[in-house]
Amino acid sequence: PLPEKVKIVEVGPRDGLQNEKTIVPAEVKIRLIDMLSEAGLPVIEATSFVSPKWVPQMADREEVMQGINRKPGVNYPVLTPNLKGYRAAVTAGAKEVAIFGAASELFSKKNINCTVEESLQRFEEVTSAAKQEGVPVRGYVSCVLGCPYEGNVSPMKVADVAKRLYAMGCYEISLGDTIGVGTPGGMSQMLEAVMKEVPVDALAVHCHDTYGQALANILVALQNGVSVVDSSVSGLGGCPYAQGASGNVATEDVVYMLHGLGIHTGVDLQKLMDAGSFICRSLNRRTSSKVAQASCKL
Ligand code: HMG
Ligand code: MG
Repeated sequence: PLPEKVKIVEVGPRDGLQNEKTIVPAEVKIRLIDMLSEAGLPVIEATSFVSPKWVPQMADREEVMQGINRKPGVNYPVLTPNLKGYRAAVTAGAKEVAIFGAASELFSKKNINCTVEESLQRFEEVTSAAKQEGVPVRGYVSCVLGCPYEGNVSPMKVADVAKRLYAMGCYEISLGDTIGVGTPGGMSQMLEAVMKEVPVDALAVHCHDTYGQALANILVALQNGVSVVDSSVSGLGGCPYAQGASGNVATEDVVYMLHGLGIHTGVDLQKLMDAGSFICRSLNRRTSSKVAQASCKL
């Protein structure tokens, strides 16, 4: 049976924008985040506390955290790769953070410049500080259905990293198909392995749509009991350390599918599409959302 409710984690302002070559003004990011909260999204990943040399687009993270109009009940998590990022995030007013590991050694090296094992040690430092300060931590596992450098990734490896993140206190583990190569078959097998180690209530899926498989993969996850879905308004984005990877599945398309299935999201699709056209206009980009393309003429 499908879940009655799904929590959508909007990652557009972070995952969607981090790879943009031209720096998007902080005020545009702030306006986008505020439009998304007005559209009813319960979680909006706002920015990253990573090295500005590595990801220049996220260098304005303090300004963004300062400028957003925090809607009661909405969470605004931020990425923190290490204790330095965690401290800066909390100082900037973050109430929730996310650590991001990978099921692939080469991707870990390219993305955060350390081995998977080293990354888990750094994450322990973050989770233990966060525990003391009562800050919830979300955990990502990247490359769960394939790696741009290593190719196939074993579901056992994904399960192992997910288990470690869960054991160190992450309340939710988001399983990232970073380069969007997965298919429903692979998703099923991977979830089967992960669900042996982490309760399904603590799992989320994070699908990029490079091969057009994201909605099908999400449906399979829902059928397996997953009820948290990451997506990006207008399907913006891509990871700077995963060349050719397209954006996340578009939030508009996920919401349309979920509502069609009778699943509650709390999201107002029209207001969401307004946020989508705002950011597409700002970036001078055509939307990647099929629903938005069908509904208006961008
Ligand atoms: P490093 O160079 O190994 O770090 O980078 P370091 O500790 O040796 O420090 C080097 C410099 O970075 C120093 O500054 C540090 O102070 C600074 P310098 O002395 O040269 O001036 N530094 C920092 N500055 C700001 N914030 C920090 C921080 N830490 C160190 N937190 C590091 C290691 C992790 C920092 C680097 O590799 C990095 O920033 N990587 C960025 C990774 C990233 O943002 N990737 C995209 C997000 S992940 C993703 O998109 C996948 C996801 O969507 C899920 C999916 O799709 O699968 C989540
Ligand atoms: Mg991603």
